[in-house]
Amino acid sequence: MIRTTALAVLTTLGFSVFAAEEVKTTFDLTKAKKIAETVCVACHGADGNSPTSANPILAAQGADYLFKQLTEFRAVDSKPAVRNNPIMASMTAALTVEDMKGLALYFSQQKRKPASATDEKLVAAGKSIWRKGDFDKGIPACAGCHGPTGSGIPAQYPSLSGQYAEYTDLQLKNFRSEERSNDPERMMRSIGEKLSDKQIKALADYIAGLR
Ligand code: HEC
Ligand code: HEC
Repeated sequence: MIRTTALAVLTTLGFSVFAAEEVKTTFDLTKAKKIAETVCVACHGADGNSPTSANPILAAQGADYLFKQLTEFRAVDSKPAVRNNPIMASMTAALTVEDMKGLALYFSQQKRKPASATDEKLVAAGKSIWRKGDFDKGIPACAGCHGPTGSGIPAQYPSLSGQYAEYTDLQLKNFRSEERSNDPERMMRSIGEKLSDKQIKALADYIAGLR
C-alpha cells in the first residue's frame, strides 16, 4: 500500500518528487553502500564504474535520474515496465523505495572513471550532430538538453559523458524501436526514430570521449 502510494505520487510529480538535497540530510547511506558492494558490484562495480561496456556507468549520474530508472524497471500493477529489461527488473524487485533512493544517492556521489572514444572519423561525425543536430532530418542538437560536455542537468537530463559506447548505442536503438519508452514527452523516442544506425554509432563513440 505504502509503495503504491509512493509510486502514484512519483508518477504525478515526475522528476521533482525526489530532491537530492533533501535526501542527503535524511538518508543513511550505509545500507545502500552494502547493497552496492554485494549485489550491484557484479555488473556496475561497487563504485558504479562498471567493468564491462554492456553495463552502464552509474558513478556521478544524477540521483533523480537514477531513482527514476530504478522505479521504472519494475512492472507496477501488472502493467509492463516502461523501461523493459529483464535483468534490472529482477534486481529492483527486491528493493524498497527507500533502498532505491539510497542507492541513487550513493552512486550519484561516486567519481566517474570515463570510457574513451576509439575512432576519429566517428568522433567527427558524432560531434557535429551533438553540437548542431541534423537540420535536414529534423534532429535537434543533443547539447541543447544534455549540455555541451554531456554533463546533463540534474533532475532533468541525464549525464552522458564518458558512458560506454556499447551501452549508449543500445539505448538509442531502444528509444528508436520504443522498447524503451520512459522518456518524458517522447523526447528521446522522437529523436531516436530519426537517427540512422551510422549516426547512432558515431554519437555513441563521441559521447564515450566527452568530458
Ligand atoms: C547482472 C547484472 C546487473 C546487476 C547485478 C545490476 N545491474 Fe543495473 N543494469 C544492468 C544492465 C545490463 C543495465 C542496462 C539495462 C538496459 O539496457 O536498459 C543496467 C541498468 C541500470 C540502471 C540504468 C542506468 C542508466 O544510465 O539509465 C541503473 C540505475 C541500475 N542498473 C542500477 C543498478 C543497481 C542499483 C543495482 C544493484 C541493486 C544493479 N543495477 C544491479 C545490469 C545489472
Ligand atoms: C529535448 C531534450 C533532449 C534532447 C535534444 C536530447 N535528449 Fe537524450 N534524453 C533526454 C531525456 C529527458 C532523457 C532521460 C529519459 C528518461 O527519463 O529515461 C534522455 C536520455 C538519453 C539517453 C539515455 C541515457 C542513459 O543513461 O540511459 C541517451 C543515450 C541520450 N539521451 C542521448 C541523446 C543524444 C545522442 C541526443 C542527440 C541526438 C539527445 N539525447 C538529445 C532529453 C533530450
